[in-house]
Amino acid sequence: MSRISLDRVGHAYFGRTVLDAVSMRIEAGECVALLGPSGSGKTTLLQIASGLVTPLRGQVKRRYRRHAMVFQDPRLLPWATAADNIGFGLRQRGVRRAERDARIADVAGLVDLDHDDLEKYPVELSGGMRQRVAIARALAVQPDFVFLDEPFSALDVGLRRRLQQLVLERLLGHRAGLFFVTHDLVEAVQIAHRILVLSADGSGLAGERQPDGIPLQRDARSAFDLAETYLATDPLFADLNNVENRRAV
Ligand SMILES: Nc1ncnc2c1ncn2[C@@H]1O[C@H](COP(=O)(O)OP(=O)(O)OP(=O)(O)O)[C@@H](O)[C@H]1O
Ligand SMILES: [Mg+2]
Repeated sequence: MSRISLDRVGHAYFGRTVLDAVSMRIEAGECVALLGPSGSGKTTLLQIASGLVTPLRGQVKRRYRRHAMVFQDPRLLPWATAADNIGFGLRQRGVRRAERDARIADVAGLVDLDHDDLEKYPVELSGGMRQRVAIARALAVQPDFVFLDEPFSALDVGLRRRLQQLVLERLLGHRAGLFFVTHDLVEAVQIAHRILVLSADGSGLAGERQPDGIPLQRDARSAFDLAETYLATDPLFADLNNVENRRAV
């Protein structure tokens, strides 16, 4: 049974349609990437899928025990250290101190935060460090579904590729379902079982592609080549391409 399913979901802000008749599902152990130009409704769709926003039309069904979110901005508690931010959800759920500390150390290690970083407050951390704290906070609760909104965007390329690998391996290894928003087609090709594309006019899903092979096992070269091929030959990605071109000017 799907971990999450959306049936003809539609949404509008102030009378302007953002999403129309979106139907999709995500299975356990599946990573689905969501792509689309800026403003096409990616964050809105993620918020609807997670229950943060109630859609004006359609139905959402969720069948998981515990979800976690990594937002587009890190949203850390400013008065709590990195360690306390990571452990916040565990504390709320009454997880004991020793267990909490062990889990914080485990997930902090996974995202490359060291002991000194953990003692710092958000204002003392770099943008990339804050993003890694937010990722660690999501992992700490051992979710079986995770919503990720451009989680690696503030990281440099080397760190991004490494964290993609480590974080997604951990989550998919535990059969979590992942709904992953990204701007980066190479990233989508590398990590996803399926790639969904939102249309540029905000009217809903334009289509979906299923790259060959197994996510995280595609090497960087072939992921890059496939992304190039998609951009050059596949009409589904034409709008992404145009937006990239417009931005470059
Ligand atoms: N809370 C809100 N109130 C009013 N309009 C909103 C709200 N949230 C989003 N919108 C509008 O809905 C549209 C889609 O926004 P959304 O944030 O979902 O896009 P996105 O695809 O995530 O963009 P980006 O790639 O820049 O993050 C935009 O036109 C945006 O201005
Ligand atoms: Mg967004």
